[in-house]
Amino acid sequence: MANGSYETVKIERDSGPNAGLTWVILNRPEKRNAMSPQLHFDMCDVLNELESDVQTRLLVLTGAGEAWCAGQDLKLYFRELDNKPAERARAAWASHYWRWQKLFTYPKPTIAMVNGFCFGGGFTQLIACDFAIAAEDAKFGLSEVNWGILPGGFVSKALTDALPLRDAVWLAMTGETFDGKMAEKIRLVNKAVPRDKLREETIALAQRLLKLNPEVLRATKIAVKNVRSVPHEQAADYLQAKSQEMRFQDKEGGRAKGMSQFLDDKSYRPGFGPYARTAEQKA
Ligand code: COA
Repeated sequence: MANGSYETVKIERDSGPNAGLTWVILNRPEKRNAMSPQLHFDMCDVLNELESDVQTRLLVLTGAGEAWCAGQDLKLYFRELDNKPAERARAAWASHYWRWQKLFTYPKPTIAMVNGFCFGGGFTQLIACDFAIAAEDAKFGLSEVNWGILPGGFVSKALTDALPLRDAVWLAMTGETFDGKMAEKIRLVNKAVPRDKLREETIALAQRLLKLNPEVLRATKIAVKNVRSVPHEQAADYLQAKSQEMRFQDKEGGRAKGMSQFLDDKSYRPGFGPYARTAEQKA
């Protein structure tokens, strides 16, 4: 790590109307952003750095050049580490840490902006992000079966979390490629848009999220994602506890403010948008 400067990842912070939006760009375009061990180490540091960065309130994960991410680097992550168990273990830890452990419940909203190829291991971080918008002509595929491995790491688990079993098994066992439109149809991404609208649509979603109370967004995301694998009675208890925790953490008192604006001032209706936050709260 070099505090903001990384070998394989670029960070760009927006200002002006998009202040708070930070672009995290996988930056090995000549290798279609395939994930080398160094990229995994860099991404661990990037996510740790941005977690406490006051200028960052939302992340967009994308790729430099023609690809979003061509999966694990078959040379540097797999073949070259075949006989180096300690290095393999270190790289595998970093690979799982940033793409799932950290990203899935990251305390700030995350959007995957899929600008091109998305293969194999790239599915893990795609599914871990809260939102995904793809170019209609982006190309997706679980190619593992084509070259003699299975969608390992965490791909098969993330895949079956995100898709119905029929689609997950089809994609994993055929290895066939599909485009952004199909990714939208099977709900692997939220939406597919023409390539020349990709950035604009991503920014529009980011701006919408940046208007909301960040503490409420954090707690909501974690609650919705975690509650899926919890039995019903424990889920009810967990959600109640999570609501209490959110009220305690929410320094701007969103719950009381929203209710007062609706019930007392009659200045807004929650069914149609966020409550009014002061400039300081938004900063
Ligand atoms: N691992 C290592 N190197 C990779 C890579 C990967 N996953 N994906 C691409 N590259 C490298 C290529 O070896 C090539 O390197 P070179 O210039 O030194 O020869 C370079 O990136 C460009 O790749 P190329 O195949 O020429 O680009 P393309 O635009 O024609 O095709 C892909 C792009 C992504 C369709 C193709 O590279 C591909 O099929 N990659 C493998 C994807 C995959 O199976 N990933 C699963 C891994 S879990």
